[in-house]
Amino acid sequence: MTLTGHSRIAGVIGWPVTHSRSPRLHGYWLRELGIDGAYIPLAVPPDRLDAALKGLPALGFRGANVTVPHKTAALAACDSLDRAARAIGAVNTIVVGADGTLAGSNTDAMGFLANLNQESGFVPTGKRAAVLGAGGAARAVAWALADAGAGAVTVVNRTLSRAEALAAEFGGPLVARPWPALAEVLATADLLVNATSLGMQGAAPLEVDLSPLGANTVVNDIVYSPLETDLLRQARGRGLAAVDGLGMLLHQAAPGFERWFGTRPAVTPALRSFVLQDLAP
Ligand code: ATR
Repeated sequence: MTLTGHSRIAGVIGWPVTHSRSPRLHGYWLRELGIDGAYIPLAVPPDRLDAALKGLPALGFRGANVTVPHKTAALAACDSLDRAARAIGAVNTIVVGADGTLAGSNTDAMGFLANLNQESGFVPTGKRAAVLGAGGAARAVAWALADAGAGAVTVVNRTLSRAEALAAEFGGPLVARPWPALAEVLATADLLVNATSLGMQGAAPLEVDLSPLGANTVVNDIVYSPLETDLLRQARGRGLAAVDGLGMLLHQAAPGFERWFGTRPAVTPALRSFVLQDLAP
């Protein structure tokens, strides 16, 4: 699609931004839907984040995604926040309003649930979930599960105090347990989510014994590089439903695309393989 003077422009703000798969992903949708628009990588250092965000309306941007390390800092620059962004304390999607204001939202929680549901049919209502990790990714996952009506969300983390702080902050069905209690937690879990960085390319492996899990437990790794982590391989080996993390990345992108470019895009197998081509080692 050739850009015209009417092109709708959005992008992703990160530092560095070279690792971001978002330009490839949004570029696919723009081409597929024949939209006169562009989605570009924007390398913005932390000390220029505020100026960059405030400049989006002046440049005529429809909005932007915000990625590492700016998701928390971006909160302060937004004029309004949706429930998820406020609760999770991080913004990943910004929409520039007609009046030039910045509306911040967090679509990671919804992307996590949408992927889990599309790939395994999992519905959190009344279910028991075990979440490994208590960092930024775990916050989005735990909040999403609690908000969707999970009966129990047990946060298991190497540093117990971080899990306890998360449980105290979100309340409701959240409970914190130390890592050595994992086998006991897994014995009653309907869902296991790895929201730590373990198992990621270049990180230490995640070593978990899945034998306590029941036959109907769904296992979800939010790590997507590599796509097939040891955790998922082990889960499949036991005949369990195993959901990889790539779909969360694809699903979290859809709401922003719809609001900037006016069409709701679909998360399809063709999109998955297009993004995957870029992830292959
Ligand atoms: P993110 O925002 O991507 O979630 P983070 O805030 O650095 O990143 O969180 C990383 C998570 O992976 C944390 O839960 C961390 O555990 P700690 O809170 O104890 O640091 C977990 N993690 C990272 N390396 C780990 C390791 N070697 N063993 C166990 N947990 C680990």
